Amino acid sequence: MRIAVVKESSDLEPRVALSSDTAKRFAALGAEVVVASGAGLRSGILDADYAAVAATIVPSNAEAISGSDVILAVRRPEAGELAGVKPGALVIAIADPYGHEAELGAIAATGASLFAMELMPRITRAQVMDVLSSQANLAGYRAVVDAAGEFGRAFPMMMTAAGTVPAARVFVMGAGVAGLQAVATARRLGAVVSATDVRPAAKEQVESLGGKFIAVEDEEFKQAETAGGYAKAMSAEYQAKQAALVASHIAKQDIVITTALIPGRPAPKLVSAAMVASMKPGSVLIDLAVERGGNVEGAVPGEVVTTANGAKIVGYLNVPGRLAATSSQLYAKNLYAFVETLIDKTSKSLAVKWDDELVKATLLTKDGAVVHPSFKPADVAADAPAS
Ligand code: NAI
Repeated sequence: MRIAVVKESSDLEPRVALSSDTAKRFAALGAEVVVASGAGLRSGILDADYAAVAATIVPSNAEAISGSDVILAVRRPEAGELAGVKPGALVIAIADPYGHEAELGAIAATGASLFAMELMPRITRAQVMDVLSSQANLAGYRAVVDAAGEFGRAFPMMMTAAGTVPAARVFVMGAGVAGLQAVATARRLGAVVSATDVRPAAKEQVESLGGKFIAVEDEEFKQAETAGGYAKAMSAEYQAKQAALVASHIAKQDIVITTALIPGRPAPKLVSAAMVASMKPGSVLIDLAVERGGNVEGAVPGEVVTTANGAKIVGYLNVPGRLAATSSQLYAKNLYAFVETLIDKTSKSLAVKWDDELVKATLLTKDGAVVHPSFKPADVAADAPAS
């Protein structure tokens, strides 16, 4: 059983799908681990570090992929990169399938079985494989560090001989995995922290971290969580009430960190240009939802925009990649935990249980076709009227 790890082809992606620890663990399972040279460099892992734990270094992705049974990546490889893939090989990555049906079709045509780690069900057994949580948690932390870096003032209150420095006011919008870590991190830095969310369960979580919860707590709010624990899209009426409450609160904040997402939809617009204009000069807004359309009006993907009133809107891309060493370590562990379920430890070979709920939820392509129900090409023939 040969497991390949590729060097990410996008400049935007410094993470790697293997850590020294998981390389060792794969070897202990009886796998031959093959790594494309330089794959770990931007995450602080040298070829020599992998070689020291029995991995083989090869010069290119093509050589790593050729003859491998499992291919591990951070981002979905291009179909062209998989040209020499062994039919039936498993390709496991953050596959970003929404809106990329054509790319999925091209990968299916290579004969590879592509898995999307971000579609892993959020059940207890799969918590250790949850890349959304492992990466969002770090993004929430990094958002606060980035905000502190852009902010021209201190976060904690300081009483000095030269005068008293007030504590910064930080408002976190969306208190899921990323938002709660942002609340905790901003509190550790000494800020006065508040947060909002449309899910009632978030209130207690924010308060337990020392944040103040701000929300319109009406009947709709009480019903706003799906059985899966995610947010629902809110009515226009609720959004108007929420916007009015948020508008008066934002005007008093130094830092706003937005993390609000709704699965399968564009990010909700929560901060209008007028709200940004109400903030003091030097205020900082970090929009972690910028890659999904953004929560802040005026946020530009990949850029720091300074507004006419001297506020900064930060739209960094791939925020988990801004602490690549840590995010790679956790992502690699998520991958290892999943791959371990695909291996028969006695025969030391791949033994995928195709009817396992984790496999069914994450498998996108198999045997030349797109097989995931959410991404299968529409069956035109089935819809055609009988002649
Ligand atoms: P997410 O990344 O989809 O969204 C981030 C946050 O934005 C969510 O808390 C959501 O409620 C909020 N949001 C959406 N629309 C909003 C609006 N209009 N205004 C304010 N906030 C808005 O969610 P994430 O962070 O992935 O987690 C969602 C839930 O799932 C959380 O309760 C989390 O604790 C839970 N979870 C459960 C896991 C499990 O294994 N059982 C693992 C990870 C998370």
